Amino acid sequence: MILELQKIEKSFSDGENQLNVLKGINLTVNRGDIVTIKGPSGSGKSTLLNIMGAIDFADSGSIFFNNNKISLGSDLEKFRNENLGFVFQFHHLIPELNVEENVKLPFFVSNTKVDTKSIDELFIFFDLDSRKKSFPNNLSGGEKQRVAIMRSFVKNPSLILADEPTGSLDNKQVINTIELFKKMNSQFQQSIVITTHDERVFNIGTKKFSLNNGVLSKV
Ligand SMILES: Nc1ncnc2c1ncn2[C@@H]1O[C@H](COP(=O)(O)OP(=O)(O)O)[C@@H](O)[C@H]1O
Ligand SMILES: [Mg+2]
Repeated sequence: MILELQKIEKSFSDGENQLNVLKGINLTVNRGDIVTIKGPSGSGKSTLLNIMGAIDFADSGSIFFNNNKISLGSDLEKFRNENLGFVFQFHHLIPELNVEENVKLPFFVSNTKVDTKSIDELFIFFDLDSRKKSFPNNLSGGEKQRVAIMRSFVKNPSLILADEPTGSLDNKQVINTIELFKKMNSQFQQSIVITTHDERVFNIGTKKFSLNNGVLSKV
């Protein structure tokens, strides 16, 4: 088991009203799972994913990662850097860095050595070998997202968290991104949690859920 959420609750307050966004979420992610989560806008998908990634914190409930309890006191930055990859709707690449530098960024952040041989193989796997020296502004939307997905993967994370990763892509790029996630999963047993509005992305889930009124239900 990689990730376990137990009775996760989260509310936001706007001063007057309390919005109960997550009402006791339980979820287990095992190695090799692709978990897909759909739900209307505002249903709490990003909140849930951010809590899984220790970017945001639940009001109550527990999170276990590789059987260790995640708590506020631990070194969360280190935990995230060593265990997680993040993909967002907008790629969040650094425009001043070329593709190769963007992809290697997680190693510089943690001050660990880049394994050049396997990175070279990954550039081929991600079909970005010819784009290494390009800058993000010279790439298509789909290519940028492919770079962002490769960046989320380079440090061999236990889990990739992708928040509406195809939300700003066109049809063909959506299909390419789906194929890429499937290939990462089948070749490397990569575990991935994806939130999405797109039925095609939703359907690659090996475990599929919908989030409605604060409750996660199996589809
Ligand atoms: N930091 C915040 N403060 C107040 N309300 C928030 C905050 N973050 C999210 N919300 C509210 O919580 C609900 C769920 O948001 P979100 O998780 O972004 O939904 P989704 O990703 O499914 O669109 C929304 O109503 C949103 O306005
Ligand atoms: Mg969202």
